[in-house]
Amino acid sequence: MLVNKAIFPVAGLGTRFLPATKAQPKEMLPVVDKPLIQYAVEEAYAAGIRQMIFVNGRNKRAIPDHFDTAYELEAELEAANKHDLLKLVQSIKPDDMECIYIRQPKALGLGHAVLCAQSVVVNEPFAVLLADDLMVGEPPIMKQMVEQFEDWKASILAVQEVPAEHTRRYGIVAGAAVNDKLVDVTHMVEKPAPEEAPSRLGVAGRYILTHDVFDEIRRQPRGVGGEIQLTDGIAGLLRRQKVFAYRYEGKRYDCGSKEGFLQANVELALQHPQLGAGFREYLKSLEL
Ligand code: UTP
Repeated sequence: MLVNKAIFPVAGLGTRFLPATKAQPKEMLPVVDKPLIQYAVEEAYAAGIRQMIFVNGRNKRAIPDHFDTAYELEAELEAANKHDLLKLVQSIKPDDMECIYIRQPKALGLGHAVLCAQSVVVNEPFAVLLADDLMVGEPPIMKQMVEQFEDWKASILAVQEVPAEHTRRYGIVAGAAVNDKLVDVTHMVEKPAPEEAPSRLGVAGRYILTHDVFDEIRRQPRGVGGEIQLTDGIAGLLRRQKVFAYRYEGKRYDCGSKEGFLQANVELALQHPQLGAGFREYLKSLEL
């Protein structure tokens, strides 16, 4: 069983990032010089995944355009002998990568977005990457998770310890430790108050799920505003089969929030091979 497909739900309204997200999906916001969605696609590609499924909503054009051939731009770069830039533009979509676009007609929640991709995921495990969680790690986080999946052949959720006062921002899991990296999940709650949280292990936006989760998502009653939550589907799944929470090695930036997005920009700019040194000098000169 190989993980060869990844679902990228990119149909959210991104209300926390208005006005920037009025006319473009938040996944197209750039961190330093690359849109968030490209970081996530590169992470999936590095994990051996070759079929990328984007679940688009309104303002849907920017993402397909980003991964499509840009004939005019490429011709201009070629004519101007800007070969490095040409290579950079062409490398966004390697030849062996396939992009599939699906429409989520209404933002009915993350669970619903995942369900929209069911017809192209035929009886096989798949990854879900939320591009507004920018994950930095070596090996890349999804690659770490695929390795766990190959060992356990069961659904894997990326988790991290979160401060008690932040449990309301996450799906929180609890269960029995298998080793220092893995927890055999027994329950999962979406955004609990600190006093109701069964642990402090918060789910980050990376999942590998077995195909059975689709039935479970479908089975869940709709929440407030008709939203269908992925967490409820996974909670149903773990009553039927093993689900593991994996403490990934690396760092997560919550780029769905303005603070996390700014932190990602500063830290990745400092690490940037061309910009890093100059940017560090600039920050020093601010004498904060
Ligand atoms: P979020 O809850 O972070 O996204 O969803 P949002 O609703 O766009 O953001 P805010 O809270 O209004 O600022 C997590 C991920 O799920 C996708 C989003 O695009 C994001 O990647 N999503 C969410 C969908 O694709 N469809 C939905 O109906 C909801």
